[in-house]
Amino acid sequence: MSSLNTAAELWFTPAMQEPLRTIEWVGVKPGARLPGRVRMIDQTRLPEKLVYLETDNLQKIWTAIKTLQVRGAPAIGIAAAMGVVAAVQKSKARTGAELVAEVERAADHLATSRPTAVNLFWALDRMRRLARVNHRQAPDAIKQRLVREAMKIRDEDAAMCRAIGRHGAKLLKNGFTVLTHCNAGGLATAEFGTALAPIYTARNQGKDISVFADETRPLLQGARLTAWELSQAGVEVTLICDNTAAQVMKEGRIDCVMVGADRIAANGDSANKIGTYSVALAAKAHGIPFYVLAPTSTFDLTLVSGEKIPIEERAAEEVTHGFGRRTAPHGVKVYSPAFDVTPARLITAIVCERGILRPPFGAVLRGCSRQR
Ligand code: MRU
Repeated sequence: MSSLNTAAELWFTPAMQEPLRTIEWVGVKPGARLPGRVRMIDQTRLPEKLVYLETDNLQKIWTAIKTLQVRGAPAIGIAAAMGVVAAVQKSKARTGAELVAEVERAADHLATSRPTAVNLFWALDRMRRLARVNHRQAPDAIKQRLVREAMKIRDEDAAMCRAIGRHGAKLLKNGFTVLTHCNAGGLATAEFGTALAPIYTARNQGKDISVFADETRPLLQGARLTAWELSQAGVEVTLICDNTAAQVMKEGRIDCVMVGADRIAANGDSANKIGTYSVALAAKAHGIPFYVLAPTSTFDLTLVSGEKIPIEERAAEEVTHGFGRRTAPHGVKVYSPAFDVTPARLITAIVCERGILRPPFGAVLRGCSRQR
């Protein structure tokens, strides 16, 4: 397959003739990975501007995660892994043990950026473990291993998304319309996405698939990001307000729901963007299949159920000020959880890179994560 065809399979801007890369590590000098920096799409600027943020500064990477310049569970895991490399690449540590201590400090700090997506902690654990087992090596050798690991996390995510696309496309018949919530597309991952991956794959298989995208209050990831990336890829997309989802289901316009996840507990309960739970309830009421699509890096089998998933609360201003304009009275009380948990009983199947998992989820989730 030519490189242009590969690009055409992606969620990409035809005018650019090249695939978009949500996040990557770029060496400062050609041919060398170190020193280097993170290059990521600044998602707060979309859909108006496609702007890249380049930095090797730990605090800027922390802020990029916190402020959703980079967002989506797999993408923030990759950003965190690259953040560790950025933090230690110029270290003057004289021993491996000193460098490991710096890795731990950077990882501890990055772990405070956002609490819900387990991919962040999963990626940081990989970086910590790698540093620890190599603590007897020279600092420069550990640095080289760390940068390779961060790039591997990115590449593995891209491969897992492709596999999710292949499995998930089996659920999509020609002519289907999919409803999605938030953005679990290429922008939320290394590339290609999770919930949107089957749509790209099915489209590439010649199926005619269209999408209803919830706008996703309060930060409008559906409107700003999903509608943008699907339009760029030439997929027919209709934007709806969140409160229109049940209505379009009732009107018989939706064949299935596909959403991503930030953390999937051992029983299949799945945390995703606030509003996902209401979509799942509406889908159940209308007899519409509800699919959760996520790589195994999103599984958290240490939690028996979704009750213990930590849910991030966001600032009141995100609700009261919309995008720069006050839309609520001064001093009004606000409650703004960024995520909710959809109970496993509402989920028709979980699609991961290993295949399509059907309920009851306990044993199949354990089986998949053992294969990791
Ligand atoms: O707050 P966000 O934009 O990071 O929330 C993202 C989501 O809820 C996504 O659906 C989830 O991370 C899956 S991304 C493949």
